[in-house]
Parts: sequence; C-alpha cells; structure tokens
Amino acid sequence: MSAPYSGGVPNFENRSLYHGDNLDFLRGMNSETVHLIATDPPFNKNRDFHATPDSLARGARFKDRWRWHEDVHEEWTDSIIDDWPAVWEVILAARAAYGDDMGAFLCWLGVRLMEMHRVLRRDGSIYLHIDHTAHAYVKCLMDAIFGWKNFQNELVWCYRGGGVPKKAFARKHDTLLFYSKSNNWQFNKQYMPYSEASTKLVSSRGGVSIDGKERNLARGAAMTDWWSDINSLQTWSPERTGYPTQKPLALYRRIIKASSQEGDIVLDPFCGCSTTPVAAEQLNRQWVGMDIWDGAIEQVKDRLREEWLVTPDDAETRMFPHVVQITSSPPIRTDGNEVAAPTLRLKVQRPQAPWQRMTHRQMVRLLAQAQASSGGVICAGCGRVLEPDFMQLDHIQPKTDGGANHITNRILLCGPCNRRKRNYFTLAGLWRENKKKAIGWMKDESRAKLAREDARAKAEWARDHFHTEECQALLGG
Ligand SMILES: C[S@@+](CC[C@H](N)C(=O)[O-])C[C@H]1O[C@@H](n2cnc3c(N)ncnc32)[C@H](O)[C@@H]1O
Repeated sequence: MSAPYSGGVPNFENRSLYHGDNLDFLRGMNSETVHLIATDPPFNKNRDFHATPDSLARGARFKDRWRWHEDVHEEWTDSIIDDWPAVWEVILAARAAYGDDMGAFLCWLGVRLMEMHRVLRRDGSIYLHIDHTAHAYVKCLMDAIFGWKNFQNELVWCYRGGGVPKKAFARKHDTLLFYSKSNNWQFNKQYMPYSEASTKLVSSRGGVSIDGKERNLARGAAMTDWWSDINSLQTWSPERTGYPTQKPLALYRRIIKASSQEGDIVLDPFCGCSTTPVAAEQLNRQWVGMDIWDGAIEQVKDRLREEWLVTPDDAETRMFPHVVQITSSPPIRTDGNEVAAPTLRLKVQRPQAPWQRMTHRQMVRLLAQAQASSGGVICAGCGRVLEPDFMQLDHIQPKTDGGANHITNRILLCGPCNRRKRNYFTLAGLWRENKKKAIGWMKDESRAKLAREDARAKAEWARDHFHTEECQALLGG
C-alpha cells in the first residue's frame, strides 16, 4: 500500500500577510504546500479603484488596466512560450479577438497562476473570482494551466444593488471558476434550506418528495452552482471597510468550508482588505494573504484587530492574541526549488553568459537572417520558403530532453512543422516524420538541412561576437 500523500513542507508561517507583488512571494513558496487558493484578482476593468475617503480602508487603491508594451515583461513571454505553449496560444487568441490589453492581462495573470498551480497540493483546489469582462478568456487560461479535466464548477454569484445600464440587462453576477489540482481532491458537500413551499409539501408527504425520494428537511438541499443568497456589501453593511471591490465574508466562508478542513492552509494572493484571511481564521484554517496595495496596511491591521488578530507591535497589549506576520520579504525556498516555469527561476539562478540571455525577439531576428532566402525564410523542418511572419522559434533538441533555451539550440520552423515537432521530436526526428508518406510535408530536404547549418553557424558567430557592435546592431537594430 502506498503511503498517504503528505504534500510539501511549508516554508512560511500561518497568519502571514505579504505586502508587495505576489509573484515574488509565490515564487518563494515551497511546492505543494497549500490546500486551497481562494482569490479575487483585478478583472481587467480598464480603470483604477480607490477606497472611499472616510472609510476604514481610506488611501487604498489599485490599478486595473493593462497595456502590452508597459505591463508585459519579455521574461514572462519567453517563459510562457517555452514552458506553457498552450497558455501562449490562449494569449494570442485573446489578443486577436479582444486586443492587446486582454493579452497583457492574461500574461500578467498567467505567470501568477502558474506559480499558484505549483504551490497547490495535489489534493487541493483553486477558486478564481472573475466577472464578465475577462471571464471567457480566463476560463481558457485556467484550462491551459490547471487542465480542463480538473474544471469542477463555474459558480455564479448573483447579487443586487449597483447601477443598471441603459441599453443592456443589468449585470448582477460574478463568476468563480473552481478547479481541482488533480482527479483526487477534497470536497465537503454544502446544503441550503428548502424553500418554504417545498418544506410544506415534503412535510405533508412524510419527508418524501414528489419524485418519490426522501428529503432531509433539517439538512436542506444540496447546494447548486448558482448562489443568490449572499448579497454584495452595501454601504451600511457592518463588515464593510470601504475597500473597493471588497467581497462578503459569507461568500469566502462557503468556499473555504467546501474545499478545506480545519487546520488546512488557505492562500489568497490578491487578498485586498483581507476578506479571505478573516474568513479562514473564523473557520480555524491556517492562512496566507498577499496584496500589493500601499498606504492601507494600517487599515487592514484595524480590521484584523477587530477579528482578534494582532500585529507584533500591538501583540503585547492583548491577551492570547493571534499574531499576524506582516512582511515584504519573500519566503526562502527550502525544497528542491522546482519552479512553475523553469526559466522564471529567480532565487537560485545558474550563472548565464550574456549571449545565453538573448530574448525571443533577438533570437528570431538573428535566425531569420541566417535562414533567409530570396525575400523569405527557409523552414528548417521542410525546406519551404515563407514570409518571416509565418516562422516560429523552436528548440532543436526538445526541452523535455534537456535541450537548452538559448540560441545554439534554436531554429525557425513553419507553423505545421512546429506543431508536428512539439516536445516529442528532435529536428532530425521531424525530418523523418515529414518524409513519411502519410504525412508528406517534406518539400526540400537539402534546403531544410542547409537552413539548419546556416542557423548553427550564425548562432555560434553570435555567441563568439556577442559584445561586438556588429552583433548588437543585428540583435537590436
Ligand atoms: C479585486 S481586489 C481583491 C478584493 C478582496 N477580495 C477583498 O475582499 O478585499 C484585487 C486586489 O489585488 C491586488 N493586487 C493587484 N496586483 C497585485 C499584485 N501584483 N500582487 C498582489 N496583489 C495585487 C490589489 O491591490 C487588490 O487589492
């Protein structure tokens, strides 16, 4: 019999509130340490949010607008292309269908979700709160990262209040995408009271419903995937802190009850005014919160104090307090330092020569010159000559076989060759495939081989002349 799954060893304290960019903190967390992630990121609303001035959360604000050229780091796109190709396809589709802003938002969220996937235990779950603006794109992103087979529910949270558009139906719901990490996840069924009419009817039939099945009236009905019994926070709600986009505790308590046990670790990397941490504390779970907001940390402390959670500076003044650690330093990994996207490794980086850090754009530029032929670029897989825009950067030796990411292991291929090669074949393997009768995609083998040789020569030249003006002009000009 195999030993029960114990997950990773946490390298962070219970009741930790990390203040800063969650990407750094997530990268610092040991793998498979968290039972549940319940989180509510920015939704790409193309606006900035500010807290109401006289509220508990006054001073808090966060940006929710994304620009491809300002917000997307080349380091992210390179790593997504290399390590999560399906995510890259989703980003490209979003850019094509909606525009660059949605692509930028997905890139930004995607690199964080990859880390969330890594820190989640194999029996864990994630709930991602989103609204209609980005929902369809984020669903695809989540499928690409967590796997469509692990998609458990699209929860619809219906609320009242707020504005009504003049020429559309009132938008009165958010969506929570619920994914498990694997096919073996924990779940505690939740129930809701029967309506008065059903209760009367079932009681009159001795506990049996019209369909002939017994009903447990005290326990209620199994909860469905649309929730209309929890309203959004109104200005007069006692739990309201004034933080923009604050969510009701009841909503997050329901999620935590369904997908964790007492003592489990709950993480919210976008915790705002700490709704998830407070809900987790109320339910005797361990928790970790993260948020980037400046200027409102004092107000979060006020909220936590009200919940009998105190920070080290006021711990002395309370009896038996639960002390919250507030820090801006990422945890230090104590496990194997495996990362969600290996090239995003931040903490322990193998030293790399400057030429090994060439970006995708630079490698494409260089190889397009090496493989150039009569106004086009030769595909090194099939020998076709195509316009440069149709060429895609690939590895000669697949990364799964230990192939390096840098220029000496790179080649430009046409789309069909790139898709066929994927992570399975070396370049020689792709040539063999293309020559198979059933595939019949090889156009000119000697031209493909020539392109490969020219690419090799150019890559070696760039490696040896990286610092020269000529090479820099080629890469950057
Ligand atoms: C929709 S709000 C969350 C509100 C929260 N559910 C609550 O009830 O208060 C999104 C939060 O993400 C935070 N945020 C945005 N970018 C972040 C980043 N890179 N790292 C950490 N937090 C970030 C914002 O400061 C904001 O508080």
